[in-house]
Amino acid sequence: MADKSFTILGIETSCDETAASVVRGTAPGPGAILSNIVFSQTEAHAPYGGVVPEIASRAHLEIVDSVIESALRQADLSLSDMDGIAVTAGPGLIGGVMVGLTTAKALALASGKKLIAVNHLMGHAMTARLTHGVQFPFLLLLVSGGHCQLVGVGGPDDFRLYGSTIDDAVGEAFDKTAKILGLAYPGGPAVEEAAKRGNPKAHDLPRPLLFKGRQGRAGADFSFSGLKTAVRQLVQDRSASTEDVSASFQAAVIDILCDRSRIAMQMFRRDFPDGETLVVAGGVAANQAIGGALAKLCGDEGFILRVPPPRLCTDNAAMIAWAGVERLSAGAGGDDLAISPRARWPLAHA
Ligand code: KG4
Ligand code: ZN
Repeated sequence: MADKSFTILGIETSCDETAASVVRGTAPGPGAILSNIVFSQTEAHAPYGGVVPEIASRAHLEIVDSVIESALRQADLSLSDMDGIAVTAGPGLIGGVMVGLTTAKALALASGKKLIAVNHLMGHAMTARLTHGVQFPFLLLLVSGGHCQLVGVGGPDDFRLYGSTIDDAVGEAFDKTAKILGLAYPGGPAVEEAAKRGNPKAHDLPRPLLFKGRQGRAGADFSFSGLKTAVRQLVQDRSASTEDVSASFQAAVIDILCDRSRIAMQMFRRDFPDGETLVVAGGVAANQAIGGALAKLCGDEGFILRVPPPRLCTDNAAMIAWAGVERLSAGAGGDDLAISPRARWPLAHA
């Protein structure tokens, strides 16, 4: 008997992208992305050098209905064709999450379809199954604007935290470095672009926690705030070029990510002796230099590297729809319409 395939509408409004998508498939994937609409609010936030929550929720409210309509139209399907409506219920900016969740509840109520409340991080975590059909278990390096974690994923409900940031997220470090350098927002792509023309050895920037797990902390924890401070001092004290600072910053980030990932690989292999896949997810996974360094690390350590394409690494609704597919494939039902949005919602605990 062929596996049942699920068709899900996904909605994502937890940060500064208003997104809707229709995805069809069954776990472990890969799935088919029938539409993937992402409306980025970047321009609205650019003058402030970061996301302004009030501007974000108003912008989501203005556009979410038409983004959903476009996603259905592009898939050439209607609500009645869906098996469920998956929506980000957290973590994220609470005003934005509320817009998406309320919209999804209204659609679920009107259409009689299942509401599937999705953890945004779960969406990032499962993207490599949507794109590559990656089997459990896998080691996940989740690197976004709000998160930086290494997690062992044994199944859809089995997340083991090996390390997380004790201060800034790595995407945040990119964004802050870009701001110090006067580069465009969002900072990650701008710093990566500038770094291509710079010398990564021009400045010796700190690599916090490198090679020595801090006492009392998990061995694979991250720290980026010292790096950011060093960048600020460098720019203030010396006439360092934007390109060289960007390249040196990115080189330090790469060393930190590879070192922590190597330690997490050992922790993962203790939990899952047959595990051999490293999945990278979240906006920072779009960075080609980081991807290249992780590919080399995987080659050295006998791991297979899986990185979704950039448009599925940054925030999107296909990953939320796919998380809905995962839920229904596991035989679980929908959520109660009374479910509340959550500003904080960790994927895994230490
Ligand atoms: O996953 P995402 O779209 O949103 C969150 O859930 O946070 O990640 C956004 C983050 C931003 O900090 C952005 O600067 C970073 O991902 N980013 C990058 C690149 N593209 C996006 N960082 C480094 N290099 C890139 N090419
Ligand atoms: Zn995200």
